[in-house]
Amino acid sequence: MCYNIPMQTLREAIEAASERRIAIGHFNVSDSNQFNAVVAAASGLKLPVVIGVSEGERKFFGVRNVVALVAAARADGHQVYLNADHTYSIDGIKEAVDAGFDAVIFDGSHLSFEENIKQTREAVEYARAKGGGILVEAEIGRIGTSSKLLDVPPEDMDKDLTTAEEASQFVRETSVNMLAPAVGTMHGRLKGGGEPKVDIARIEVLREAAGVPLVLHGGSGSSDADLAAAAKTGCSVIHINTDIRVAYRKGIEAALAANADEIAPYKFLAEGRKAVQDMTEKYLRLFAGIQQ
Ligand code: G3H
Ligand code: ZN
Repeated sequence: MCYNIPMQTLREAIEAASERRIAIGHFNVSDSNQFNAVVAAASGLKLPVVIGVSEGERKFFGVRNVVALVAAARADGHQVYLNADHTYSIDGIKEAVDAGFDAVIFDGSHLSFEENIKQTREAVEYARAKGGGILVEAEIGRIGTSSKLLDVPPEDMDKDLTTAEEASQFVRETSVNMLAPAVGTMHGRLKGGGEPKVDIARIEVLREAAGVPLVLHGGSGSSDADLAAAAKTGCSVIHINTDIRVAYRKGIEAALAANADEIAPYKFLAEGRKAVQDMTEKYLRLFAGIQQ
């Protein structure tokens, strides 16, 4: 565990969500402003929340900075967990494990299935040796790699949906705690609109076959109905990044447009924070089955 606050572990929080057939929200942040917005939204609803930082977000934010912010949020009684999102190297995994993250994702989805198993196993062994119950998640199948506004869907999107055999073999041979399968979502959101169809029946089969909680990546752009169904069917954590990024940018743009002479960051950034908090709250309610 990263911090000495007596609180449910992330494993316990995920198990509780899985039993209730709801999902915990995982929201990516690049700075303390977004971080505070996500925590405020979750605390307002008295829900746990996972803060995710990708390799790029970690580089910008600072690994020790985000770990310290989580400690401060927990000291204030907020149920916040920290995940090293989409980490492509074992060194990156080691850095996050050593820094005291609650969870790490080794993303070997661009590798061959066998190589993904091999390297994911290495990540699991390192995290287990460290102790402290750090959860390891892995990703199989192709759902694109970046949370941005897309002209077209990532290539091979629908050709590489995860099968029950793959899920079962992968978990058996790696002992990961959670699995991020390809079930129809994509990282990012299509500029021209259009919602990827999430294969809910496949989620049900994969949850059974994997025997561990599933994590739905690429939440932005999918329909609310699909996301709610995914939570009910076996995805115990759902990731949102693109919609958080869009909200943040639009909030700041609106503040600057409203007052072209405003130079105080704590003023114009506040609009970005409010937009992120509202977006986070919307998704937290959806994932937890709470009335909007
Ligand atoms: O890891 C991050 C998430 O999977 C974000 O996906 O940008 O499509 O919401 P998204
Ligand atoms: Zn993701």
